[in-house]
Amino acid sequence: MTALVRLEGVEVRYGRSLALTATELDFAQGSFTSLLGPTGCGKSTLLNAVAGFVPPSSGRVLMDGVPVTGPGPDRGVVFQHYALLPWFTARGNVEFALKRFGLSRTERRARALEALAEVGLADAAEKHPAQLSGGMRQRVALARALAAQPRVLLMDEPFGALDAITRARMQRLLTRLWEHTRTTVVFVTHDVDEALALSQRVIVMAAGPGRVIADHRVGDGPKSDLHHRIVTQLDTE
Ligand SMILES: Nc1ncnc2c1ncn2[C@@H]1O[C@H](COP(=O)(O)OP(=O)(O)OP(=O)(O)O)[C@@H](O)[C@H]1O
Ligand SMILES: [Mg+2]
Repeated sequence: MTALVRLEGVEVRYGRSLALTATELDFAQGSFTSLLGPTGCGKSTLLNAVAGFVPPSSGRVLMDGVPVTGPGPDRGVVFQHYALLPWFTARGNVEFALKRFGLSRTERRARALEALAEVGLADAAEKHPAQLSGGMRQRVALARALAAQPRVLLMDEPFGALDAITRARMQRLLTRLWEHTRTTVVFVTHDVDEALALSQRVIVMAAGPGRVIADHRVGDGPKSDLHHRIVTQLDTE
């Protein structure tokens, strides 16, 4: 498979502190990968470097061979806190996010409604965030990212603030969406079960300084062995 996203010696410093040591990684087109690790290990930093929010202090990120210099419509981002605009409806929030892509009003509306339907919110399109549950708000945030038809979906603990039942429901929704769109997904979590349930590949990171310590392929078989290995890796670092 071809690499859609490639990190070449990507190192990130914030001032004098090293948040991510030089990292080499490839993300194949159509793959679903989780970045797993304890707080402070650089998961968000890595994701934000791919998103183009954080410039590497050395190395580079390539999208389809082209260096990333900032955020772009080819990379959709979903955060833990959905950051919806309260004065817009669900549809308005998605449409607003599409504004910078030079689409016509009609096209924006069509794409917004399509994306909201994809996440099961067709009936809630005219509701405001305050009228929606946490899970529904996160689905609006997911629709907002999907509506731009990104080539890669970057998700930073998107379900971290949800209750267990809503979270399980969102995981199933995401799996369904991925199975039918095959958008490349990079998913940040600190939950081993979540990583194993969703992904084909789990990249384990450690802190002090942030770095990749393992790269696992998730097979179709029982996940308990891999779960145990990952927990051991997280424990010994
Ligand atoms: N904007 C920033 N300025 C300075 N230091 C930062 C900044 N963002 C992150 N850091 C530091 O860089 C390191 C990696 O942070 P990062 O947010 O990438 O970790 P994380 O794995 O996403 O953690 P969490 O699970 O808590 O979200 C940490 O030591 C953090 O304190
Ligand atoms: Mg983080």
